[in-house]
Amino acid sequence: MEYQKLFQEYKLNQNQLKNRFLMAPMTRSRASQPDDVPNALMAEYYAQRSTAGLIITEATQVSLQGKGYANTPGIYSKQQIEGWKLITDAVHKSGSKIFLQLWHVGRVSSSKVNGLQPIAPSSLTAQNTSVYIFDGALNGDATFVPVEEPREMNKTDIDTVIEEFVQGAKNAIEANFDGVEIHGANGYLIDQFLRSNSNTRTDEYGGTKENRIRLLIEISKAVVHAVGKEKTGIRLSPFISFKDMNDPEILQTIMLAATALNKLDVAYIHLCEADWDDAPQIPIDFRIKLRDIFKNTIIATGNKTPDEGEKLLQDNLVDLIGFGRNFLTNPDYPARVKKSLGLNKISDTHTLFGGGQARGYTDYPFYKAD
Ligand SMILES: Cc1cc2nc3c(=O)[nH]c(=O)nc-3n(C[C@H](O)[C@H](O)[C@H](O)COP(=O)(O)O)c2cc1C
Repeated sequence: MEYQKLFQEYKLNQNQLKNRFLMAPMTRSRASQPDDVPNALMAEYYAQRSTAGLIITEATQVSLQGKGYANTPGIYSKQQIEGWKLITDAVHKSGSKIFLQLWHVGRVSSSKVNGLQPIAPSSLTAQNTSVYIFDGALNGDATFVPVEEPREMNKTDIDTVIEEFVQGAKNAIEANFDGVEIHGANGYLIDQFLRSNSNTRTDEYGGTKENRIRLLIEISKAVVHAVGKEKTGIRLSPFISFKDMNDPEILQTIMLAATALNKLDVAYIHLCEADWDDAPQIPIDFRIKLRDIFKNTIIATGNKTPDEGEKLLQDNLVDLIGFGRNFLTNPDYPARVKKSLGLNKISDTHTLFGGGQARGYTDYPFYKAD
């Protein structure tokens, strides 16, 4: 297939992107301990992947309470801001743009991770869901532990979380990020509010679709106010059901959210789509309707081949295509696509989260002709 669109430049507000490849956010759990501080190894990893027009960082907790897995980075301390500057500097020098993904896990956590009881819209434990710690077992491998019962958030907790997202966004801009992505996907706090099976509240944050989108919209509005609408993107995952997410109304809820986000004029909506091999295709009607409702940039990520991505771009249903695992294993993924070169595969799944530090992280090779 001839790629007319994938390699075309794109203007995301003030950011001129060199191509339509987006490196999707991927947790890799290599922040320096004990304080979850981004470091030089992470800067090397992201700089290697500056071949993407836009990079979204791994999910980054806005507070200790918002942390759900060991060794993920934060964006709430001075030290973390300074650490992130290594990454933004390296990526900018290598010619790409980078947004930070702001994260609160809500109920997807354990006191074994952060010493705190998780918080959530309702006191409902996510079934069949685990998080990981590093407890010295198995040669430094992650050990999975079940999530714990969360405490139902009161209004003060909600106000605190909104403030944490705002401070996280301001800190990200101080660390020279080009923008922030609010993580509203994958069963974490904001998604827990969106869905009727995890949100059984009877106050203004639950009960109806309008109420369930309230936290997402309040956070988005506050972040827009703090750092600007052109620097605020949102990630949503209407078609994902893992981490005990289940809601027959989710598609209508997402459209309602998209209408409100359009009013806020945020930079983009990033769809986190199913990524397993036989995942159902997203109905074209959904894409057309979203395009109609939301006027700014739309991004789609999830098990896309370059051909599928190119087709979505050519059909004008999305503006950027996200690739996760292909960027993880191929720092020069766009060049490999352009020249139809072979791809590196995941070398060792133990190195996906923490594990080998540089191994399975910065040692995936750029293409070399034999
Ligand atoms: C190792 C790994 C870590 C991930 N961590 C995150 C994350 O921190 N935030 C997020 O929104 N999605 C995360 N994802 C989902 C990816 O952003 C992406 O949606 C998914 O990998 C599907 O894209 P792909 O098929 O191109 O890999 C992760 C995926 C992988 C493989």
